[in-house]
Amino acid sequence: MRKKFLEVLERAAKFLELTREDLVALLSADDEESIALFHLADKTRARFVGDEIHLRGIIEFSNHCARNCSYCGLRKDNLEVARYRMPPWEIIESAGAAAALGCRTIVLQSGEEGYYSGEMLAGIIRAIKKDNDVAITLSVGDRSRQDYTLFRKAGADRYLLKHETSDPRLFARLRPGTFLEERLERQRWLSELGYQVGSGNMVGLPGQTLETLADDILLFRRMGIEMAGIGPFIPSSRTPLAGEAGGTLAMTLKTLAVARLAMPRAHLPATTSAATIDPLGRVKVLQCGANVIMPNMTPAKYREDYAIYPGKIGLNDTPEESYARAVMDVEKSGRRVGAGYGHTLQHEKSC
Ligand code: 5AD
Ligand code: SF4
Repeated sequence: MRKKFLEVLERAAKFLELTREDLVALLSADDEESIALFHLADKTRARFVGDEIHLRGIIEFSNHCARNCSYCGLRKDNLEVARYRMPPWEIIESAGAAAALGCRTIVLQSGEEGYYSGEMLAGIIRAIKKDNDVAITLSVGDRSRQDYTLFRKAGADRYLLKHETSDPRLFARLRPGTFLEERLERQRWLSELGYQVGSGNMVGLPGQTLETLADDILLFRRMGIEMAGIGPFIPSSRTPLAGEAGGTLAMTLKTLAVARLAMPRAHLPATTSAATIDPLGRVKVLQCGANVIMPNMTPAKYREDYAIYPGKIGLNDTPEESYARAVMDVEKSGRRVGAGYGHTLQHEKSC
């Protein structure tokens, strides 16, 4: 093992502040060094967030999107996607079914568009909260501060708004018409409104370096992020990045492990994209610092059309099957399903 790597790992084991250079040293771990890195990340996870794995049921309620992100299969210009919008009653019913299966958090996710007004989404949130003992996470992208306020008042607990990449130039290229600074401004609004804020990035984006990944992790920390979804970039056909290489599981595991060392108390999900590029991806990620799984609770008839990237796992599964697979992966990891809402510690109270 390199002397520098060992020295940084020892400092990480004592929870000393890690610099950008330190993070790059950890991210450049070779195979042997990776084993030590993963071991320490797993130990840190056990010590700070314990052995519970929180199951957050995700409902992908609409695949319409007004944006044209160059990495995403749901981009507006992809005319091959069969677009759908679930009616409010069906979203509420699906949330009830997910809660009945055991999910203590419901994640409502969609593309970025204006069809569902602030009032409409607030009504859906209220209806879900009234009938189920669950926390609600929203993942509906860039909206007005007024909408974020409405959702929060209606009972939304958390908001997932990924920064995707900390490189402002890369961000502007990947998400035409939008800017990193505006995304971060929205994360600040969400924090001010009392949400638990989640972010995330993709590993293996074209033009990304180890320094970019180190900056991604430092940005999570700077923004006080409580949840970070870290997954590999998977090239999607009919997008401008279709011919690119994509991220590897090895690099994703290293990024996740380093994120755990830098943010010992954060919630780090085993992303669906990690499970998609390797059949054992989810269990491996759970052994490198992750403590959350997001089983897909979208009704089976819509799943195939939420085609962000190809090969997404579980397309033929029902919500029951997705939940059962998540529980199986928890058991394979020798851990247990989280009993509470899985809030971050400073928010651990009833919903
Ligand atoms: N590969 C991996 N993840 C992707 N996402 C979008 N497109 C891709 C892709 N091609 C992720 C982004 C986005 C979330 C909805 O899906 O992180 O925030
Ligand atoms: Fe739309 Fe989100 Fe895909 Fe961008 S990443 S095109 S905002 S669904």
